[in-house]
Amino acid sequence: MTSIDIDILKVTELVREAGKLLLDRPKEVMQKGNNSNFVTSCDIAVEQLLSAKLRDLLPGSLIIGEESEDNPSNGELLWVIDPIDGTSNFIRDMGLSVISVGLVKDGEPYLGVVYQPYRDEMFYAKTGEGAYLNGERIHVSDRDFAHSHLCSAMSLYDKRYAPPCFRIIDRVYQESDDLRRLGTAAMELAYMACGRVELYFEIRIFPWDAAGAIPIIREAGGIVEILYKDKFPLDEPFAILGANTPENFARLKEIVTEELPEVPYYS
Ligand code: IPD
Repeated sequence: MTSIDIDILKVTELVREAGKLLLDRPKEVMQKGNNSNFVTSCDIAVEQLLSAKLRDLLPGSLIIGEESEDNPSNGELLWVIDPIDGTSNFIRDMGLSVISVGLVKDGEPYLGVVYQPYRDEMFYAKTGEGAYLNGERIHVSDRDFAHSHLCSAMSLYDKRYAPPCFRIIDRVYQESDDLRRLGTAAMELAYMACGRVELYFEIRIFPWDAAGAIPIIREAGGIVEILYKDKFPLDEPFAILGANTPENFARLKEIVTEELPEVPYYS
């Protein structure tokens, strides 16, 4: 992948500025889809702020945002924004939400920033230049499967697909150390990059949940794959799995593909 001339620290500055909105703003909550799906006035404010400033930072780039009306998917350079990943945690004042920004270049996540404002933790990576947390290089852990923690979810926004998730979680749980469900995919994926968790599986997430974290995991030495897709999907949900080591990834993939020989909602 050819590199592009963009200073990732400028992206982190914008995301940090947007992070103040999560800490400060009063929350007006609106229902979005099913019973579990909400958007707040803060999601919209963060996305508006970032969309305008990221476009200025990289002239000619386009925006895909979780709260955007129109989602272009055919640009050469696309910012993929989740203004608040962990919206339900945000509404419930759990202090477990992040802002995620990915830059997709020629169809693949190329640069990513995931910011947890409550702990002031800025995760970031640009392809070929390493992964960082608050300026320090990060790396996945070397724990084996038996000592791993899995992060996962159960298709929150379409619970028809929950049963295979529970089967996969049960099987991984029997062989590993423990399980976490933190309610923010981007943060859980960033936690894999810095060695806090080792395994990740989710049957149905959206491009904005993962675009920021994928380059961070890869640059931190981890493995992440979109199940049964060659390219990063920009306009549809997908199943994703990831792990710290090739051995752990292979075992997780074996369990996932046995329980999920196909993804039921893929067309
Ligand atoms: C959701 C969270 C959740 C994950 C869902 C995501 P949102 O994002 O990351 O943990 O299980 O797949 O859609 O709706 O809070 O931005």
